[in-house]
Amino acid sequence: MSLKIQTVTSHAKDPKTSSHSHITGLGLDDEGNVKDIADGMVGQKEAREASSLMKELILQKQVAGRTILFAGPPGTGKTALALAISRELGPKVPFCAMTGSEVYSAEVKKTEILMSNIRRSLGLRIKENKEVYEGEVTELIPQEVEDPLNGYGKTVQSVIIGLKTVRGSKQLKLDASIYESLQKEKVIAGDVIYIEANSGAVRRVGRSDAFATEADLEADEYVPIPKGDVHKKKEVVQDLTLHDLDLANARPQGGQDVMTMIQSLGKPRKTEITDKLRLEIDKVVEKYIDQGIAEFVPGVLFIDEVHMLDLECFTFMNKQMEKSLSPIIILATNRGKTKVRGTDIISDFGMPRDLIDRLTIITTIPYNPQEVSEILKIRAHAEGIPIAADALVRLAQIGAETSLRYALQLLTPAWIQAEMNAYDEVTQEAIDDVHDLFLDVQRSSRILKDNEEVYLA
Ligand SMILES: Nc1ncnc2c1ncn2[C@@H]1O[C@H](COP(=O)(O)OP(=O)(O)O)[C@@H](O)[C@H]1O
Ligand SMILES: [Mg+2]
Repeated sequence: MSLKIQTVTSHAKDPKTSSHSHITGLGLDDEGNVKDIADGMVGQKEAREASSLMKELILQKQVAGRTILFAGPPGTGKTALALAISRELGPKVPFCAMTGSEVYSAEVKKTEILMSNIRRSLGLRIKENKEVYEGEVTELIPQEVEDPLNGYGKTVQSVIIGLKTVRGSKQLKLDASIYESLQKEKVIAGDVIYIEANSGAVRRVGRSDAFATEADLEADEYVPIPKGDVHKKKEVVQDLTLHDLDLANARPQGGQDVMTMIQSLGKPRKTEITDKLRLEIDKVVEKYIDQGIAEFVPGVLFIDEVHMLDLECFTFMNKQMEKSLSPIIILATNRGKTKVRGTDIISDFGMPRDLIDRLTIITTIPYNPQEVSEILKIRAHAEGIPIAADALVRLAQIGAETSLRYALQLLTPAWIQAEMNAYDEVTQEAIDDVHDLFLDVQRSSRILKDNEEVYLA
């Protein structure tokens, strides 16, 4: 099988991070030690130190097949820590985040969902020496001729493109298909691009920095005009995941013509990735790795609320972790001793024993009032909510009595309340108002207990 990697586009999943948007890392100093407050992270120092160590091991590829579990009460920063690790790892290491309950879908098998997420976290870095034409586009002129099939229309027969580097410039006459690729990449004069000589694939690198003073609303990446000749050998690096390869090789790309688009309208856009296809892809990939063409980059699969998985899923995961191409798994749970879903077995964290044996466990502990206050302050700032000093004290106190998450959830309603009363910051009164309007878990369950007879059992 020959693997299609030319036209692979990345399908990285965007983790839903809005409530964690203030977190930009683990908050480490240059020596890798944990700072009190940094990168949006407050307290939880031991767990952060352990996470920092894990991050190092992951970067040094020392933890293949290892599983890390964040265990601790709700709202103690387990999800935040996992995402902080992903920020520390940077964009080159694949990181796929999912929640345990995502496996329950009416259409797709549980194990298929796990499998595709595992493959999203397995990265490949492919380096190739390619013959390319590279430079800043100086001109782009399509050559039109009368379309012999259509008496009135014209068709593009070829394209003339001018490319400029520091050393020289060249004018090329290229095939019409490359004109299509140029349009797809939205290439215009002043862009820096390269065209692969063999495949004709076009890549737009960015806007030439000669144009950096243009008033440009869209954030564009400015790049220097390439050095060397227009026509040269260039090392081209592609970072992709096995999931990208699965998709690219399952669904024939192209098919941009009107008929295929209409035909696919009625059909659900399901991609048929079979086990057989994956096996074949793995075989080729392993060969590439052996030959040094590709470098394996084990990434991270993060499964939040892992107690939502059932025995079938746990068994499947256990089997996958034995494979040579396997990601680092990070799990998080707030459960203590409880039943493994789908069985009557009671076990720590609601996970089967054989999986627990593999775990490196990092525990998180509840925050003290001062830490709660610091986190609230950071969040208020991130959400652009002005808050009075005494209101912050009051909210922190509520957070310490109930939970951090409950206090965080009061921020926005309190701000709306304050605005309605024409204040320009959240006041202590507004906090008390919304605290009366909404219930935290303890008060809610007390009310349920006191009024048991009026609720349906
Ligand atoms: N140490 C921390 N520093 C800064 N923000 C935190 C910290 N711990 C938790 N948070 C924030 O508090 C909220 C709840 O934390 P979360 O990670 O969702 O808890 P858990 O996953 O343990 O239930 C999130 O918005 C999170 O970003
Ligand atoms: Mg969580």
